[in-house]
Amino acid sequence: MILPIIAYGDPVLKRKALPISKDYEGLEQLIESMWETMYHAHGVGLAAPQIGKSIRLFVIDGSPFADDEDATPNDQLVLKSFKKVFINAEMLTEEGDDFSFTEGCLSIPDIREDVTRPSVIRLRYLDEHFNEQVEEFSGLAARIIQHEYDHIEGVLFTDKLSPLKKRLIKGKLDKISRGMVESDYRMKFFTKSKKR
Ligand code: NI
Repeated sequence: MILPIIAYGDPVLKRKALPISKDYEGLEQLIESMWETMYHAHGVGLAAPQIGKSIRLFVIDGSPFADDEDATPNDQLVLKSFKKVFINAEMLTEEGDDFSFTEGCLSIPDIREDVTRPSVIRLRYLDEHFNEQVEEFSGLAARIIQHEYDHIEGVLFTDKLSPLKKRLIKGKLDKISRGMVESDYRMKFFTKSKKR
C-alpha cells in the first residue's frame, strides 16, 4: 500500500524513534508498504517516521545512485545491489574523511543542499529476519544510511546546515510545513491536517 509521506513540520520527524521487537504487529506488511511508498516517490531510502511511525526501521535501495555523477567505481559496485531493511540500527562509529554530498529528502520536497559527513561508518542492526548484523559501509552507501539513520534519531538534513543556509531556506521550509509545496507523491501536512 502506498502511504502518504509525512512532510516537514510534523513533530514525528523530530522524535527519537523507539526499537521494535520481532512480534511488532503487521511488520511484514509495513515493510512492504514502505518499499512501495519509497519506489513510488522515487526515493533511495525511507524511514518509518516519514510514514508517521516513530519506530527504528528504515529501508534503502541505493541502486539509482550507482549512476550518480559523484559515484566512484566502488560506489557503483556496491550500490547496484544495495537493497536492505534496517531494524533497530545503532551507529557504532563514524569516521574517515568528511565529504560533501548534495542531499534531499522525500519529507522536504524541492530543497537540496550540500551536507558534510564522515565517509566510513560501522552500524549494528537487525535485518528483516531479525538477524543481527554488524557491518562497515563507506562512500554513498554510508551516506544514504547516515541520512536515514538521522530520521530515526529525529534529525533532518536541514538541521545540519550552517546558520546562514538555514536562514536562507527558512521561508521554503515554512511553506512546506503549511502544505504550500508541489510533489508528485501524496504527502501529509501537520498544520493542514490539524485544521480539518
Ligand atoms: Ni529523508
